Amino acid sequence: MKTIIITGGAGFIGSHVVRLFVQKYPDYHIVNLDALTYAGNLENLIDVVDKPNYTFVKADITDFAKITEVFDTYRPDGVIHLAAESHVDRSITDPFAFIRTNVMGTCNLLQAAKNLWQGNYEGKRFYHISTDEVYGALEKDGTFFTEQTKYAPHSPYSASKASSDHFVRAFHDTYGLPVVVSNCSNNYGSHHFPEKLIPLAINNIKHNRPIPVYGKGENVRDWLYVDDHARAIDIIFHKGKNGDTYNIGGNNEWTNIDLIRLLCRIMDAKLGRPEGTSAKLITFVTDRAGHDLRYAIDSTKLQRELGWHPSLQFEEGLEKTVDWYLANEAWVERITSGAYQEYYEKQYGNR
Ligand code: NAD
Ligand code: DAU
Repeated sequence: MKTIIITGGAGFIGSHVVRLFVQKYPDYHIVNLDALTYAGNLENLIDVVDKPNYTFVKADITDFAKITEVFDTYRPDGVIHLAAESHVDRSITDPFAFIRTNVMGTCNLLQAAKNLWQGNYEGKRFYHISTDEVYGALEKDGTFFTEQTKYAPHSPYSASKASSDHFVRAFHDTYGLPVVVSNCSNNYGSHHFPEKLIPLAINNIKHNRPIPVYGKGENVRDWLYVDDHARAIDIIFHKGKNGDTYNIGGNNEWTNIDLIRLLCRIMDAKLGRPEGTSAKLITFVTDRAGHDLRYAIDSTKLQRELGWHPSLQFEEGLEKTVDWYLANEAWVERITSGAYQEYYEKQYGNR
């Protein structure tokens, strides 16, 4: 039996990774370590909480004593680290929360793993999940981020993630910690917190509210279906080379305005509204400070060396995502009303 601590498992991507690992690897013990910040929602995992190979531990990665206690108790062979403050707009308002969790929290986990493993690294792995935003912004010129692209973060969020990436590599180079890092592009899919563009827009369209598009909507993002990211994480965790970095991306670039127009068309069809109804809700608002123009990932290394490929076409993935949100309006409503964490406690107790 292998024990793997997955941090941030109650969040958007983390919940997909936990579900995949719990279901695919019944002989692994999956420990979901999460502080349940505003972004954590155990309801995301309601279909796996009763599985015998799953344990939830409420712990804050900024608390080194607590993290040490959890590592001593569960003695993990592997760590898959997703816990983070993840929203760029929040980082502009409160950068220190991002330094605490993303930088200090990551260092606490590295140190706890180093202390537990004591240089005996056989069968051990620390996998750090990072973002393409560490590379900064591309021009609209057809170039891509590769694993060799220099770091040039612009937002407090991306600066904190870049810093955490450097610490992970420093623990590899200095102490020999067996680490692997991946940098992924924008994810979309079910259980995405409705502060982010796609779920926010779906919810606003549903309720006939304005869809806020920053600036002129010309910024470009490279969208990847969240389950494709989870599959990549599985492959990299098991087959990635120690000390290496892998870029993960959908090769699927969209300007924000084109994406929102596509979403409006899908929503009109799903809601039985005349075509063009939802697009009337598009509202251009003040741009995000330091808004990166374009992200685009070259994932050739991952595809060639480890055989991963994205599985879904964007239109198909977006439609599946819309279907999930329309079928799970109560999930969204519990979040937007702020009732979700209390609801989980009341409904499911300490499951
Ligand atoms: P999320 O905000 O949905 O979830 C973050 C999770 O981490 C939550 O469950 C939260 O409770 C937990 N958490 C936050 N602070 C914590 C702390 N101090 N201690 C313990 N747990 C804490 O984030 P997400 O979008 O699922 O992103 C997960 C990871 O993937 C992050 O590291 C992010 O940087 C990275 N990433 C995200 C994307 C994306 O498009 N969402 C793309 C590339 C990389
Ligand atoms: O690239 C990977 C990153 O993708 C992850 O590391 C981050 O954790 C994740 O949040 C995401 O960052 P973005 O800033 O790209 O995602 P967001 O959904 O906030 O915004 C997507 C684009 O849409 C971006 O160009 C800003 C714009 N936007 C966003 C919001 C919330 C709008 O135009 N209007 C909005 O209301």
